[in-house]
Amino acid sequence: MDISSLRNDFPTMRNNRGVYLDSSCQSLRPDSVIKAILGYYNEYPSCGGRSVHAMGAKVSTAVDEARESLAEFFGTDDPDCYVFCKNATEALNTVAFGLSLKRGDTIVTTDSEHNSNHVPWLILSEEKGTKRRYAKTTEEGELDLESFKECMENGVKVVSVIHASNVTGCIMPVAEISEIAHDAGAKVIIDGAQAAPHIKVDLDKIDPDFYCLSVHKMLGPSGMGVLYGRSEELANLRPLSYGGGTVGLATYDSVKLAPPPDRFEAGLQDYAGIAGTKAALDYLSKAGMGNVEAWDKRLMRQMVGETEDIKGLKLVGPTDPDRRGSVFSFNVEGLSPHDIAMMLDNIDGIMIRSGLHCAHPFFEGKKIEGSARASVYLYNNEEDVSRFSATLRKVAEAFGK
Ligand code: ALA
Repeated sequence: MDISSLRNDFPTMRNNRGVYLDSSCQSLRPDSVIKAILGYYNEYPSCGGRSVHAMGAKVSTAVDEARESLAEFFGTDDPDCYVFCKNATEALNTVAFGLSLKRGDTIVTTDSEHNSNHVPWLILSEEKGTKRRYAKTTEEGELDLESFKECMENGVKVVSVIHASNVTGCIMPVAEISEIAHDAGAKVIIDGAQAAPHIKVDLDKIDPDFYCLSVHKMLGPSGMGVLYGRSEELANLRPLSYGGGTVGLATYDSVKLAPPPDRFEAGLQDYAGIAGTKAALDYLSKAGMGNVEAWDKRLMRQMVGETEDIKGLKLVGPTDPDRRGSVFSFNVEGLSPHDIAMMLDNIDGIMIRSGLHCAHPFFEGKKIEGSARASVYLYNNEEDVSRFSATLRKVAEAFGK
């Protein structure tokens, strides 16, 4: 992977708009994605799946092609198993509220979920009386498999876990989790928001019932996500909303729903976003997910190596860079995470995230008040990391304890 030429594909990098280290929140987009979005608005700004005129047909083709790209990218055969939605959050809500769970049904998650895979289950337990068990993670954030197995005793309906943590970068053993859960008769949902952008995800091998992801973390347009579901699971899932596009036929007093994925895509869709999604997948396929993962690892090793002797610096998550994915969460004694983030930005235009990263259960469980977080992606280079490390050192020396 030629990073220096690839970096030039990203307008904000090309135009030196600062050191972007917040890709776990939202990634930058290459020219090809922006071009695909503009292409829709400039050339065929019409509606898919309905109008039979030339522009409408072009939109329908673009939607079909994007679904085919998803099936190819994630190693499954059937494009109709992919539903377009706003983000991983919407995908997870669709599953949580669509499974028709009842009072007493048990849901297992880890103790380190993002709110998107925590709050819907909380609301469900308040409204329906479902129960929850939390598989423990270690101090560093890795899954305690024994604890997970204990959670699986005595009838569990659903297992819903993160694939990778947005705080520690730790990858959960999802294929193993999936096998154990299926053996116990539970459905498996995976929140892949942080994994899909950074590692090769082979859904055929992982074998989940549902996999949820955000396209805007993987070079795609804002507000685009995907819900993957096995066809028999999608067929039994209740949609979150109904309306145009979701039905085969509706009369005054009856309705026959369209088959998936259409029944989940109510109303006109974000067609520019769908076209941009395909362009993002094409871009990542060309770069190669193996290369992306290796590059993340290289930058993480550099970041951990350059910062390990900074006084007062404490990592949140593993100290081994190879187990951190693309995420470097940390605290500096005597400084709040928000102060660190603001100082890095003010001093050298280094953009990181700070706070609880919408992963409130993780911080509650580990009794940590929050963290600063730098996250890398395929367009970052060694100079970005060195600038981050050097500026962080200055900040810690001048203002830390
Ligand atoms: N969950 C996103 C993040 O980690 C927003 O920043």
